[in-house]
Amino acid sequence: MDTNRPALPAEIARRRTFAIISHPDAGKTTLTEKFLLYGGAIQMAGQVRAKGEARRTRSDFMQMEKDRGISVSASAMSFDFKTYRFNLVDTPGHSDFSEDTYRTLTAVDAAVMVIDGAKGVESQTQKLFEVCRLRDLPILTFCNKMDREARDTFEIIDEIQENLAIDVTPASWPIGMGRDFLGCYDILNDRLELMDRADRNKVAESISLEGLDDPRMADHIPPALLEKLREEVEMARELMPALDPQSVLEGHMTPIWFGSAVNSFGVQELMNGIGTYGPEPQVQKASPREIAPEEKKVAGFVFKVQANMDPKHRDRVAFVRLASGHFERGMKLTHVRTKKPMAISNPVLFLAADRELAEEAWAGDIIGIPNHGQLRIGDTLTEGEMLKVSGIPSFAPELLQSVRAGDPMKAKHLEKALMQFAEEGAAKVFKPMIGSGYIVGVVGALQFEVLGSRIELEYGLPVRFDASQFTSARWVHGPRDAVEKFTQANKQHISYDHDGDVVYLTRLQWDIDRIERDYPDVTLSATKEMM
Ligand code: G4P
Repeated sequence: MDTNRPALPAEIARRRTFAIISHPDAGKTTLTEKFLLYGGAIQMAGQVRAKGEARRTRSDFMQMEKDRGISVSASAMSFDFKTYRFNLVDTPGHSDFSEDTYRTLTAVDAAVMVIDGAKGVESQTQKLFEVCRLRDLPILTFCNKMDREARDTFEIIDEIQENLAIDVTPASWPIGMGRDFLGCYDILNDRLELMDRADRNKVAESISLEGLDDPRMADHIPPALLEKLREEVEMARELMPALDPQSVLEGHMTPIWFGSAVNSFGVQELMNGIGTYGPEPQVQKASPREIAPEEKKVAGFVFKVQANMDPKHRDRVAFVRLASGHFERGMKLTHVRTKKPMAISNPVLFLAADRELAEEAWAGDIIGIPNHGQLRIGDTLTEGEMLKVSGIPSFAPELLQSVRAGDPMKAKHLEKALMQFAEEGAAKVFKPMIGSGYIVGVVGALQFEVLGSRIELEYGLPVRFDASQFTSARWVHGPRDAVEKFTQANKQHISYDHDGDVVYLTRLQWDIDRIERDYPDVTLSATKEMM
């Protein structure tokens, strides 16, 4: 991450665009809710939370959703905190790792990693962390649920260091834990933060100190806990690296805050940390050149497409991360893939407080563009220059099934539904070169179920999934005549994805190895760049 860049215009410099990564149940929803509470976006905690399925989609959070029948708000939320504008991008919550998650992380400049103080680094946290690492994303850590019996603080820090191979530096240090948890010593600002157990929405009492020996500490902390705190902080200072902002920005070091989201404790300190150490909007990789946020002209890219949840309308919302410039409503942008102009007349800014049409937005912001399917994941929008944002991959599915409409007369409808989901990135859809029907590929088994019920719900089309004779898919790359020759000789295995790209399907790794030997001009790839 390049930090020696020119100063950004103030409106851009104050933006912090990030995602929260965590294992289910660690407290992501609760933390989001408290962010919004402190961001002034909601009046009382509890508004984001709903039970069961509703909780997963959080579907009527925004009035606009009700009006338009779309469920988008949870995907991106913007709110102000102090001088900052935070753009929080949601990562899908279910445990099946999906491309969607990966692509979401291409749209942010930092991630907040939430871990449960009793459980430490769990499987999903680890996976998501590794995705962040691929992009060297800065990571700020929040160790939650300190009001419950948690692990020893040194042990938690060690575990993160060992499992994730990243330097950890304590930004705060917990005082007691479980029933004895009193609050934290704010190491960065030399303050004592005391939790209020009686009122969960109340901001903690904050006392400015003069070092760990400040006698005022004794007014609030029983002697045994105070002695332990002093010892531990001293030891931590000796054993652990001090906070190095540059190292945080490069993704080599993570500061850790301790707290209790449900008690609103430690959240403000974390938010301050995001403001201070979380990066400003970063340079975006693109070809033939990178895009810098301070460029006057607007450029952005689609990282997510969400179909209308209302079956009566087929509108979709494309989520666009602005990579540069100052966007104003009504602007005409060039859709680079088709080279066509697009008037962006009704963009949505997911302002949690105001819930309005986006009159303007700046580099770093996420805007939603309603459209009828022109915008696809990976598309770039510019003010005319033919730039293409790179680094938004599509992964080969790990599970394949063939799909059929319950009613054979509805095959055309099924095709339409499948194409929509393919464009949304919810599944890979392959049309075999020989024969009829479609093969659908996903990364996690749960996605078949989700897909089946969405096709039924949104298209009124019951479908059947059956085992496919294939288990792996690879995109075929190479000079056109080599690919053509390969295709003709392997027709039984060839299909086309929704972009018309050639895909080789097989059930044997052996086949893949053989092809690499027999067709040196052709490469089989498990990823392709979205375009
Ligand atoms: P997730 O989005 O990461 O899946 O987690 P979520 O925020 O839904 O939190 C999971 C559970 O942990 C919730 O309890 C929530 O209340 C609880 N929780 C979150 N933060 C804290 C904390 O700081 N301390 C304690 N003790 N608990 C916390 P639940 O029983 O599933 O839901 P609810 O009945 O509380 O609504």
